Amino acid sequence: MTPVKTTESVIRRMTRLAVEHDAVNLSQGFTDECPPFELVWAAVSAILGGTEAQMARLDGASLRELVPGLDASEIVERPLKQILETLQGRQDSLNQYSFPFGLPDLRDAIADYTQRLYGWRPDPETDITVTLGATEALASVLAGVCAPGDRLIVPQPYHEMYPSQAAVFGLVPDYVTLLEDVETGRWTLNRDEWEAAASRGARALILNTPHNPTGKVFSASDLGFIAELAARHALLVISDEIYEHIVFDDARHLSPAAIPGMRERTIVVNSISKTGNATGWRVGWVIAPAIYTPAIRGFHDTMVIQAPTPLQRAAVALLRLDPSAFDTLRTEYARKRETLTLGLGRAGFGVSAPEGAYYLFARYRDVPGLGGRAPMEAALHLITEVGVASVPGDNFYATEGGGDEYLRFAFCRSVPALEAAARRLARLTSG
Ligand SMILES: Cc1ncc(COP(=O)(O)O)c(C=O)c1O
Repeated sequence: MTPVKTTESVIRRMTRLAVEHDAVNLSQGFTDECPPFELVWAAVSAILGGTEAQMARLDGASLRELVPGLDASEIVERPLKQILETLQGRQDSLNQYSFPFGLPDLRDAIADYTQRLYGWRPDPETDITVTLGATEALASVLAGVCAPGDRLIVPQPYHEMYPSQAAVFGLVPDYVTLLEDVETGRWTLNRDEWEAAASRGARALILNTPHNPTGKVFSASDLGFIAELAARHALLVISDEIYEHIVFDDARHLSPAAIPGMRERTIVVNSISKTGNATGWRVGWVIAPAIYTPAIRGFHDTMVIQAPTPLQRAAVALLRLDPSAFDTLRTEYARKRETLTLGLGRAGFGVSAPEGAYYLFARYRDVPGLGGRAPMEAALHLITEVGVASVPGDNFYATEGGGDEYLRFAFCRSVPALEAAARRLARLTSG
């Protein structure tokens, strides 16, 4: 097989340019706000403690109990680093290689979390594999369940890793196009087009709901259609659900695996990246029917061995949080969506309110000074002259001319950063 040349991701290139030009970076989908303290503390105590026993000790005890030789004034005066050094466990398992398919505690937590959210419990032994984020989860799935030459249905606009990973594994993408209904602000699918793609003999379909970049949350009716299509054409559905908690107004995230009859043909990829504000940790997972798991695990083990042990241990704390903890994501992102929608609207962009995820896929052709430019040129102009980084819309399409009226803006930054972006965007209309 001829090796496939992969190129720099456009999204990550925009981040690089944003840094170079000191632009507010609304290109790549990561936040500038901290992860929940429970998650951070679990990682700190796993790295420092090194064992479950020392983690438990660090968790509950006071400094007076932990460092008995010190008096109160010493505790206050000593650098924190020196005190923490005395707490480091000498025995260690949590900073070492661990079971490649994921810590048993984390696989149990993923199973319980799935049960709480979607009403069914995957088997941690046979169905769950912990990976380096959803990115490696998808790669392991494509490598494990598809063969070179297989067709893969990919809805466009898409996350750029779908076609690039398809290319790496020699798969043939068959694109179907989501269409924006500007009147209703909804993105719709053309069922005949999906039917035709399935009839061409695809092995699998990649679904992403809530959807990046449009914000579409696939409805019960959409998913019913996809389930029926998958059953009729023996299609596997690979469901990327990393924005599962980020939904707005009356939209509700539905997982295709929870639809009767779909479990045996659905493979879920997910991660703590967005739910835990921890995109840099690279902890994710695959939930697959048991028959596919050995091949998925084989690829995962060969390429990366495992996700970082202490961060896996910490992810247990996130997934075991009370589900109400995830509701705050919704309320905080709703406010951010509002701030950036207003800013873009004032600058002349056309924006449909997304139902989920944290992107605005904005029409820019009526924006003064911008509308006449091709998407990449418009994005570069915004970075260098206005100081806001976005992603050109055509980056999310494979077909010629697709997305050339859109720019994607991520609203996952802090409110002050979004307000700063809105002020800068206002320069577009003030001449
Ligand atoms: C739809 C989608 N899937 C996957 C990813 C990557 O996820 P991870 O950080 O878990 O690899 C992203 C990141 O923005 C995304 O938008």
